[in-house]
Amino acid sequence: MAKCEVRGNDYDKSFELIAAGARHIFDSFECAIQAIAPVCEHCKCRVIGHGTEVAGVMAACSRQGAAVVPQGGNTGLVGASVPRNGEVLVSLRRLAAIGEVDEAIGQVTVGAGVTLAALQDAARAAGQDAALDFGARDSCTVGGVVACDAGGARALRHGTARAHVAGLEAVLADGSIVSRLAGLTKDNAGYNLPQLLVGSEGTLGNITRVRWKLAPLLAARVAALVPLQTAREAADLLRALRADAPSLESCDFFLDEGLELVLEHQQRESPIKDRSPFYVLAECAAQSDPTEELAAALEDAGIDDALIADDTASRRGLWTLREGHTDAINAAGVPHKLDIGVPLRELDRFIDAVPGAVEQAGAERVILFGHLGDGNVHVNVLGADPDDERPDEAVLELAIKCGGTISAEHGVGVAKAAYLERARGPAELAAMRAIKRALDPQNLLNPGAVLAVTREP
Ligand code: MLT
Ligand code: ZN
Repeated sequence: MAKCEVRGNDYDKSFELIAAGARHIFDSFECAIQAIAPVCEHCKCRVIGHGTEVAGVMAACSRQGAAVVPQGGNTGLVGASVPRNGEVLVSLRRLAAIGEVDEAIGQVTVGAGVTLAALQDAARAAGQDAALDFGARDSCTVGGVVACDAGGARALRHGTARAHVAGLEAVLADGSIVSRLAGLTKDNAGYNLPQLLVGSEGTLGNITRVRWKLAPLLAARVAALVPLQTAREAADLLRALRADAPSLESCDFFLDEGLELVLEHQQRESPIKDRSPFYVLAECAAQSDPTEELAAALEDAGIDDALIADDTASRRGLWTLREGHTDAINAAGVPHKLDIGVPLRELDRFIDAVPGAVEQAGAERVILFGHLGDGNVHVNVLGADPDDERPDEAVLELAIKCGGTISAEHGVGVAKAAYLERARGPAELAAMRAIKRALDPQNLLNPGAVLAVTREP
């Protein structure tokens, strides 16, 4: 294996060597990860420690014309955080500082390498709530969460990562640092660069710090698992809950086939005796116990067989049925993972049509689950050759036909880049390309992610 040439504490020299030797030293993907991770396994050199070091790396890479791929927890599902063509891998995991929570305004500044779970803990310790959550919480990092505008179950009430970004600091392609960390609620001086970077998946800048908007901590919680017959019934239930249960925070769904996989994988009994084709998992959160409010809303909606979980352990028990889908599916085969969003009124049309579309495209089976309130369906296709694009094509085409999007929370990455023009249209794609060219004229930042363009030689 090629030896890492970067040693000692002369960071500027190190950065220059990394950039100059990127294609030589890092032509092995494994070596790239080890060399740029906090401590290189081969020679124990340190590389990235804080934002200005990231700026040093970027300035050197810009001088050398070396491309970079930023990486946080590497939990992404669309390939945006792994080098593909010998790019320098910039790990941001050591940017793990958590600032003091400003309780008056409800904000905190955190490094890009802070895990979502650590942010949640810091917020909770100050009586506040990070108000964003999903299964990868222990390993995903705030920089990545913001870079792909992650969502999760609680986006229904609190919005996706974008809604939590009160400002950020980022290193641009030439190594310059833009910093908007004051967290001003009202600040309309010029373009909103921080929001442009949200969801840009490392293609417009390396996010190094984030000013995160918190929410009041609502400790009184209750969840309900509701068995239903169809997606249409689920959409009707959501409408009723939104109207009658203002404490509603999340409203996810899964199907019986997925539940069966999860129960097998987790080796547990079904908590529901009379199984149904479709299940909704709703959670309410408030300052005082929302159980009565939820129960009344369910009753008004004609539901009499919901499973109610009003303590932490039983709520967790229900959520592991939903969050356990990813692991259970992975254990059943290598899935083609799609993450589409459709308008709620089209959800039942999409859900009814997917199995047929996937089967016609040569795949064996499809497991559907997701975030009902956002019209966000995680489509996991099993029994298709990993290189066979037909099932992906069929699912994404169907989502577009239903007026939806090809990516709701996982991002475009490299996996969906080829479909972006079909989803957004030529005018919007041309505008995106113009922005990319203006901020990254050498195409050094995560080339090939989001915009399917190859790096100029
Ligand atoms: C989820 O909601 O569980 C995630 O987005 C993960 C996935 O789609 O596998
Ligand atoms: Zn999800």
